[in-house]
Parts: sequence; C-alpha cells; structure tokens
Amino acid sequence: MVTICPSLLSADFSRLADEVQDIEKGGADCLHLDLMDGHFVPNLTFGVPLVASLRSHTKLPFDAHLMVEHPETYIEDLAKAGVTYITVHQEACVHLDRVIQQIHEAGMKAGVALNPATPVSTLSCVASQLDMILVMSVNPGFGGQKFIPYALDKIRAARTLLDQAGNCQAVVEVDGGVNAKTVGAVKEAGADFLVAGSAVFGAPDRAAAIAALR
Ligand code: DX5
Ligand code: ZN
Repeated sequence: MVTICPSLLSADFSRLADEVQDIEKGGADCLHLDLMDGHFVPNLTFGVPLVASLRSHTKLPFDAHLMVEHPETYIEDLAKAGVTYITVHQEACVHLDRVIQQIHEAGMKAGVALNPATPVSTLSCVASQLDMILVMSVNPGFGGQKFIPYALDKIRAARTLLDQAGNCQAVVEVDGGVNAKTVGAVKEAGADFLVAGSAVFGAPDRAAAIAALR
C-alpha cells in the first residue's frame, strides 16, 4: 500500500483549486506542495498564503516540502494553514534537531529531505524523532527531471535507518522522476509515499495516472 502524493508544481497555476479537486476525485491520497525561495534552489514557486487559500478547497492532507533557507521561519504559519507534514532539507538546517522539535510543537509531522548527494547517515542522530525521510531522486528545484538511479539504495538505507532506530511507523517518501517506468523499482526499494508531479498533472486523465502509479 503506497500513498500517492501529486505535486502541485506541475499543475496549471491559473486554476489551482480545480486542479486540486481533479486529483482528489482521481484518487490522490495527499497533496505535495513545493515551496521554493530562489535561494536554496534556483526557482521560485509560492508561499504560505497560497497554501492557506487552497485549504478550504480540498480534504486531502497537505505535505509541504520546504526548499527554502531558514525553513523554521514558516513553521507556525504553515501549521495555521492546515499542513499535516512539513519537510525541511537537512542541508538548509544548521540546527536540525531544534527545527524538528519546532515542527512537533506546532502540532505537525516532521520530515527531513535529503538532496541526492547527501547521505542517509546524516540523519542517524535524529532518526527516532522523525515522521518521514524524503529521499530526493532528482536535484530539487524543477519538475520533469530524470530519476537518479542511486536514490533506490538511499530509499533502502532510509528504511533500515528508521527501523534500526525503532521508528517503524515513520515513512519513506521519494520525490522526483517517479512515473510509470520508475515506480516499480521505487516500490520494491520500500518507499511508502510517492510524489509525482509531471506523471500526474501532465497526464490528460489524472485518475488513470494515479491508478497506474498505485
Ligand atoms: C522538485 C520537487 C518535486 C517535483 C517533482 O524539486 O520537489 O516535488 O514536483 O516533479 P516530477 O514528479 O515531475 O519529477
Ligand atoms: Zn517536492
């Protein structure tokens, strides 16, 4: 059983509420929201007000992926906007332990994302506190990129790290280049949450695209 999380990044930005309702009807489990600041990654997307304004248009849980510097700045406001999972990048947090605590204190689930070149072992000290490890299978910043094959080993390593920390209920999410071709290997490696942007929003029939991934 996998959780399918379409990424809003590949939706039609001129009609976001309709796009979100389309994937909800199409069987999505969660909405992945990519916040980018033009500093941590070389692209800009949207901020907290947009996330807040979408909240009343769907019942899907929100999975916010913060590709920003100083992610702690946004935690309180994202909690108020009705976000369930907040994922911060390991590379963006000097005080990662503190940020994880802040997310929990704000009543949300805490995830940490790893860029392709960042080893899973960098999370060994905090593994027992996490609700999610997000393995990036592309370099963050853009949709529609090609899946990096060595991410499969990192998915396995993330699962092992969480299990060895006695944190079996925490999930492993994979993000980037997940499509009908790569999804089999991703599932086999043990990913629980699958993010898919172009593979879902780029498809004419979103329900069929979601079903194909599942
Ligand atoms: C990339 C984002 C992804 C992106 C994935 O930096 O984190 O969530 O939307 O897009 P696809 O599925 O097209 O690779
Ligand atoms: Zn993402």
